[in-house]
Amino acid sequence: MKLTTNLELGKYFTFELSKDLPIHNWFFYKEGFAPQVVEYALTQEKITNGTLLDPFCGCGTSMLTAKNHNLRAIGFDISPVAVLASQVKCENYDKNEIDEIRKFLLSVPNLPESNYDWQFELFSPRAVFPKSNHNGLLSLRQAIANVENEKIKALLLLALVSIIPQVGIFIKDGGVLRIDKRKMAMPTKEAFRRKLKKMINDLETRAVNSEVPKVSQGDARNLPLADNSADIIVTSPPYLNNVDYTKVYGLELSLMFLDKSITKQVRGESLRSFITSNLPPENVPPEVGDAGIKVPVIGNYFSDLEKSLMEIKRVLNTGGACYLVIGNSVVYGLQIFVDELIAEMAERLGMQSEIIVGAERVADVKPRRVNIRESIIVMRKSGL
Ligand SMILES: C[S@@+](CC[C@H](N)C(=O)[O-])C[C@H]1O[C@@H](n2cnc3c(N)ncnc32)[C@H](O)[C@@H]1O
Repeated sequence: MKLTTNLELGKYFTFELSKDLPIHNWFFYKEGFAPQVVEYALTQEKITNGTLLDPFCGCGTSMLTAKNHNLRAIGFDISPVAVLASQVKCENYDKNEIDEIRKFLLSVPNLPESNYDWQFELFSPRAVFPKSNHNGLLSLRQAIANVENEKIKALLLLALVSIIPQVGIFIKDGGVLRIDKRKMAMPTKEAFRRKLKKMINDLETRAVNSEVPKVSQGDARNLPLADNSADIIVTSPPYLNNVDYTKVYGLELSLMFLDKSITKQVRGESLRSFITSNLPPENVPPEVGDAGIKVPVIGNYFSDLEKSLMEIKRVLNTGGACYLVIGNSVVYGLQIFVDELIAEMAERLGMQSEIIVGAERVADVKPRRVNIRESIIVMRKSGL
């Protein structure tokens, strides 16, 4: 397998650049990549029409980039928060709909108190918001529930969940939510109004009204798509780093559904990149070897990735390529070359693979320092 280095690409592997891009920045998704990853893949493959698929679409970076390039796009994510963000960012909104959003904005100062109850699996939401902000979130949540137009309702809901970190006294610290009592929380209604004004402005000045990508909740290990239905795949699965998205985005999920059990339910369906139970040795892909048997999270992770790779190969058009962004990991002191293992699995499954290293850094895993890299793995489905 070929391995090359292009350290120019690394800066596109994080959400940093998206933070300044209209529409892309409607929902802060730390785990997202920048649109330039998608543009790089399209340029390399000389794709100017056809269908782009992202089976782990997150906040919709691939979908929105494809839409802006007039390509058809299909995306799946297991998390309803990610699906909401992707769908809302990729929709077309006409003038009447924008007017209706503006009307809701004007009603915000006068919204009544809510009688909703909001519970979250890990702790009471009351513990991480000033009282007036907690009440403000629920009053907005209830008003949004009464909006009839489903498209507008979804946009307002995204605006609401997107301000949760701003109006709370917690920070997202790696994979956990940590209370930080010194943090200044912005008043809920003010944060919501600012967010909605920005969204309206982006829609009026920056939106491209072309074919709307199809984004659904779905499992990358079992895609509801016909064989050979995607011309290019650009994606990034969860990293092997014990980050549980249903915890990091648990407040957003539970406010969306007003249901305490939603986080547990989505966790059960997610790719197993965090603590898991033992799995039979025969389910550990052969490339992974002993580490996958001794450390269950490693075995489970690669077993799930193998299923996703099989689906990628099945739905990819002959001659098409998948660009997959991934980082290597250190798990309980074991250095795992995730990129090489994925590339080897892809070859066993009948795809040609190549690794392009985009970023290199040193991880301080006491008492050692370990070189960690992030790469794009290009997997190609040939006609042979
Ligand atoms: C690294 S993020 C993708 C970020 C995306 N590239 C972006 O720019 O927003 C990985 C995503 O995989 C999703 N995920 C986890 N398990 C999944 C599964 N079984 N099927 C589909 N998506 C899954 C997570 O919810 C998360 O949004």
